[in-house]
Amino acid sequence: MNFPRYRMRRLRKNERLRRMVRETELNPSDLILPLFATYGRDVKKPIGSMPGHFQLSADNMAKEAKKVKALGIPAVMLFGIPKKKDAAGKGAYDPEGPVQEAIKAVKDASPELIVITDVCACEYTSHGHCGIIKNKDVDNDLTLELLAKEALSHAKAGADMVAPSDMMDGRVGAIRETLDANGFSMIPIMSYAAKYSSAFYGPFREAAGSSPSFGDRKGYQMDPGNSDEALREVFLDIEEGADIVMVKPALAYLDIIRRVKEETGYPVAAYSVSGEYSMVMAASEKGWIDGNRVMMEMLLSIKRAGADMIITYFAREAAALITETA
Ligand code: PBG
Repeated sequence: MNFPRYRMRRLRKNERLRRMVRETELNPSDLILPLFATYGRDVKKPIGSMPGHFQLSADNMAKEAKKVKALGIPAVMLFGIPKKKDAAGKGAYDPEGPVQEAIKAVKDASPELIVITDVCACEYTSHGHCGIIKNKDVDNDLTLELLAKEALSHAKAGADMVAPSDMMDGRVGAIRETLDANGFSMIPIMSYAAKYSSAFYGPFREAAGSSPSFGDRKGYQMDPGNSDEALREVFLDIEEGADIVMVKPALAYLDIIRRVKEETGYPVAAYSVSGEYSMVMAASEKGWIDGNRVMMEMLLSIKRAGADMIITYFAREAAALITETA
């Protein structure tokens, strides 16, 4: 049936009709908020490149958790900024490290909020790489042990889920094995399965102080030109026991999100990274775009592409806006 019998515009006439036929809608329950945990007390240190975001000490993290829960956001993702870094990244599994303390504080203040932890070495190593260095390169197999220890220490502190982001081969299996052997067989793994080597991580590296002091991450993170390889990464992680698979970044990789969802049928997370947030914030501050509308459109596109959940620095603002306009 075509024009003039059929007119696409009939169902676009007003918001009520548009709403009836809308295929994708965002809910606060789709969102996960990343938070940066640091040491000390009463610390709330602004992150310059990410307006509205702070490095928080455990006491302030607990306060933040309550607000996040009240907005209907189901989960947070924790990153750590330790007091000291060393070549071996030992701070990653310190039972009194900033992430471990934040987990305890958040679970005390808001037990229903799901606490997911980023598992990686880059925030804890003096050289800023995601693993242990041997012969000027990140040694895959040596790093696995560190990651498994880190994941275990998060689980012991009370984390509900762990999310390895390092891109070492075999890490999901190594973490699964260690968690299972220590009584944590019910803790799910959200793997950063298809994580690209991306310039969109720029602001985060300032936030977490984790820029590599030499070289780059191209030897372990994925090449942006590849799509079939993303599926191989994802299937390997699934075979090793991943419960949720992630694509990261989100906006420049919507095609990957769609393929991963269609070809695996697994729960898919998409990480809308720091650069995606900062670009919108900067353009909005300059008055060049309507920040709220761009934020919602961007998040909607990620869900429409196939993501079941979105990790985003906009989680609070988006959740509030969804609730306001419902
Ligand atoms: C740690 C990690 C990074 C991000 C999440 N986990 C940085 C990186 O790989 O360089 C980036 C998150 C963001 O940009 O928002 N490996």
